[in-house]
Amino acid sequence: MQVSLTAPNSVQYLQPTGLFINNEFVASKSGQTLSTIDPATEKEITTVHAAGADDIDIAVAAARSALKHPSWRKLPGTARGKLMLRLADLIEENANILATIETWDNGKPYQQAVAFDIRAAADAFRYYAGWADKVQGSVIETTPEKLAYTIREPVGVCGQIIPWNFPLVMAAWKLGPALACGNTVVLKPAEQTPLSALYLATLIKQAGFPPGVVNVVNGLGRVAGATIASHLGVDKIAFTGSTQTAREIMKLAAINLKSVTLEAGGKSPLLVFPDADFDSAVTWAHIGVMYNQGQVCTATSRILVHEDIYDKFVESFKQKVATVSTLGDPFKDVTFQGPQVTKAQFDRVLSYIEAGKSEGATLIHGGTAYKDFNGKGFFVEPTIFTNVTDDMKVYREEVFGPFAVVSSFKSEEEAVRRANDSVFGLGASVFTKDVKRAHRVAADIEAGMVWINSSNDSDFRIPFGGVKQSGIGRELGEAGLEAYTNIKAVHVNLQ
Ligand code: NAI
Ligand code: MG
Repeated sequence: MQVSLTAPNSVQYLQPTGLFINNEFVASKSGQTLSTIDPATEKEITTVHAAGADDIDIAVAAARSALKHPSWRKLPGTARGKLMLRLADLIEENANILATIETWDNGKPYQQAVAFDIRAAADAFRYYAGWADKVQGSVIETTPEKLAYTIREPVGVCGQIIPWNFPLVMAAWKLGPALACGNTVVLKPAEQTPLSALYLATLIKQAGFPPGVVNVVNGLGRVAGATIASHLGVDKIAFTGSTQTAREIMKLAAINLKSVTLEAGGKSPLLVFPDADFDSAVTWAHIGVMYNQGQVCTATSRILVHEDIYDKFVESFKQKVATVSTLGDPFKDVTFQGPQVTKAQFDRVLSYIEAGKSEGATLIHGGTAYKDFNGKGFFVEPTIFTNVTDDMKVYREEVFGPFAVVSSFKSEEEAVRRANDSVFGLGASVFTKDVKRAHRVAADIEAGMVWINSSNDSDFRIPFGGVKQSGIGRELGEAGLEAYTNIKAVHVNLQ
């Protein structure tokens, strides 16, 4: 159940195409497949098997039986950690192939895939491998007549539904803590980018994980995803994607009161005060919204600049975007920006460009599709709108593309109030050299993460997640373990 593929950068490899259940690649019962496209050329890469409800039943049963099997249930945490360390090593050994798949299937620049995606995936597994024998209960003192202690048990079978913007990283952030805590998993990659998780599955088997511990089932969200979210055999759901789908998943998960963690959308503000290091603010403002084709949940896409430096900032930001956001072939080293992941995302970004124009904002850069790459591909020029008001769609809604809006403010109070005027609360950036102001604003801002004098830092040791409609729960760091254990209290009567 694999095909031999040769990527545009001449890398040749064997791509699994089946559903990965019980450590084997199998055909879907329904015979359904899905086609995945190279967004730079619009050509089909291959088709993979797509799970129907029957296939999800089989995958969940495999995960359930692995959960109880002594080869997993009785495996000491230290040994689980060793399997995960081996997996991290295998990811690094296969970095070239994994980065090639990520670039081909998603459109992200190859250099960025190597430097960030593959690195972050290996880091997450290695970090959580270290936790596997450190997830401990405690003895709690009560009275001399009683002994009471707690055990941290795995939650059980975890359904994990991930998006297409960082396919491998999202798989690693979800699998890492789940496996460290002794759970088993049914992972559903996004239908737009089904390939890298299947390749990861071959490495999971090679690392020595027992059958059924990790199952990878591609398929459509409304079929495979919805079946996992509503499945009575699944104990927990972890999801990353749109706020709208997060809401749907929470409803489906209610059927058996699954524990739910959600990492959803954002419209994160970036505030620039007049005392900021100006060049640094411009540099980070660019990275913060244009990196990964702007397809980043934490993208700082609402830029608010103090009126004293507004005109100068807008001019420098425009120059920066014009010179640094090199568009084109994602396999070329000079490329900063590849295509949007799909025609749907391409159309979505263009529709927001139309919305910005018709709402009366001023388009100062970009604003059209880019066709210099053989006339093909879902490329959009990096786009900046100014003269944006707070009631405009382009100011309020997540675009998820290389698309920034810039507005000016008069006071710190106004900046914070307007930054918080959003249904989202994922990230926020603050640029100032005033230490007091930096910490004051960080405290006042409604967000799960604040970056002082940078944007979009993430680190496997540091909790990641949002407030308001940006999500529930945290990934990464010690906090990322919380969702993956239940605490059992044991009362011992000593009388
Ligand atoms: P989506 O949220 O619908 O898809 C994410 C994952 O959820 C995919 O694996 C999909 O198959 C699955 N899914 C979809 N519907 C489902 C359902 N009813 N039940 C269970 N699983 C389901 O996102 P989509 O449609 O690909 O992108 C639309 C917008 O969502 C983007 O433009 C962007 O604004 C946002 N988004 C945000 C992401 C983030 O990192 N926060 C990632 C991807 C998209
Ligand atoms: Mg694709």
